[in-house]
Amino acid sequence: MKILSVVGARPNFMKIAPFFRAIKAYNDLLLTAHRSPLIHHLLVHTGQHYDDRMSNSFFEQLEIPQADINLGVGSGSHAEQVGNTMIEFEKVLKAEKPDWVVVVGDVNAILACSVTAKKENIKCCHIEAGLRSGDRSMPEEINRLVADRISDLLLTPDLISSQNLRNEGVSEQRIKFVGNIMIDTLEASRQRTSLLKIDEIISHNLIQESPAPCALSPAPDGFAVVTLHRPSNVDRIEVLEPIVRFILDEACSERVFIWTLHPRTRKKLEGFLLFNEILMHKNLILLEPLSYLGMLKLNMEAGIMLTDSGGLQEECTVLGTPCLTLRWNTERPVTLLEHGGASVLVGNNVDKIQEEFFRALKQPGNPVRPDLWDGHAAERCLKAILEFNSE
Ligand code: UD1
Repeated sequence: MKILSVVGARPNFMKIAPFFRAIKAYNDLLLTAHRSPLIHHLLVHTGQHYDDRMSNSFFEQLEIPQADINLGVGSGSHAEQVGNTMIEFEKVLKAEKPDWVVVVGDVNAILACSVTAKKENIKCCHIEAGLRSGDRSMPEEINRLVADRISDLLLTPDLISSQNLRNEGVSEQRIKFVGNIMIDTLEASRQRTSLLKIDEIISHNLIQESPAPCALSPAPDGFAVVTLHRPSNVDRIEVLEPIVRFILDEACSERVFIWTLHPRTRKKLEGFLLFNEILMHKNLILLEPLSYLGMLKLNMEAGIMLTDSGGLQEECTVLGTPCLTLRWNTERPVTLLEHGGASVLVGNNVDKIQEEFFRALKQPGNPVRPDLWDGHAAERCLKAILEFNSE
């Protein structure tokens, strides 16, 4: 059987690494038993995220080999990214003729590659299927809806996602609850990560123009971590500036902040003339985008997280880091406080952010493990594909 897996942007890499290892383990087992056929696995990178910090460092740390094929799509508008990916991916499919295309998560690559695969009449599997924010102004929601509508096999990370698919009329044999594959990577990395040192992560990743970083508060208070990249938070000054003002003028007096800066956000902060003030704030440490292990270490030690990332919401839940999610909705409700998780939705309303920030400082979080977030989702993903094939 030939499987072609697709990655495109940063959050995909930690989701495909365990799947890659599951295939390798399956093949190794067959080889030991002198059995065949082995799975022929090819990794395709669309090239949406392309620089060392957003892409290459992940391949090294997660111990996945460089992609077999890179489509070199790069940045651009959504239509450019999706269109260029489809044009290039079609050529790959015609040359490689895989049995399955596997897409993960919700970035533009999953829309482009699932549609292209189905037009070539190739079976498609979506890992992390069924997540729904209900917010169609979010590009990722459009990607999820399209990929789930046309993929043959929908592997869900939680039971709410399985139910979302049923509610949309998806037949039972296309849905399989496998658990959260990203937590496989977290569990496989815990030990290595615990050996890292925060001060080294800071000194290796400090934004070049920064002054010397301030000292971090001792545990248990720890420090606060902030990451923002969603267009809805960073693209307009009237939304971004009040958030920045709250962090600099108020929140930084309570905790030292470590802000890991996404390239989109950096460009916007520079354009809005806010970058230098953040850079020079005495209680804020501004870092380049971190590697997977660097970010995981910060999360393990942080007293609180402010983020608009879906993946960090999930990691905070498993690690027990109180998490303010700067969004009005989430496709990951299992991570919310009301479902036992660590995250609370605060949108981009500064009054709400402020209220929940001070509440969370008083309430340390507890690690929570939703069903099947157990480090073995990738094996179940592969099993589902193999069983689907033999049905
Ligand atoms: C994308 C994903 C989002 C994911 C996020 C994680 C979609 C629709 N969005 O958003 O779901 O949460 O990645 O990071 O697929 N850039 C660089 N270097 C890079 C990559 C990007 O400088 O390696 C710059 C681009 O030139 C662009 C900006 O960062 O100006 C944003 O990149 P883009 O690919 O548009 O999407 P993200 O905002 O990163």
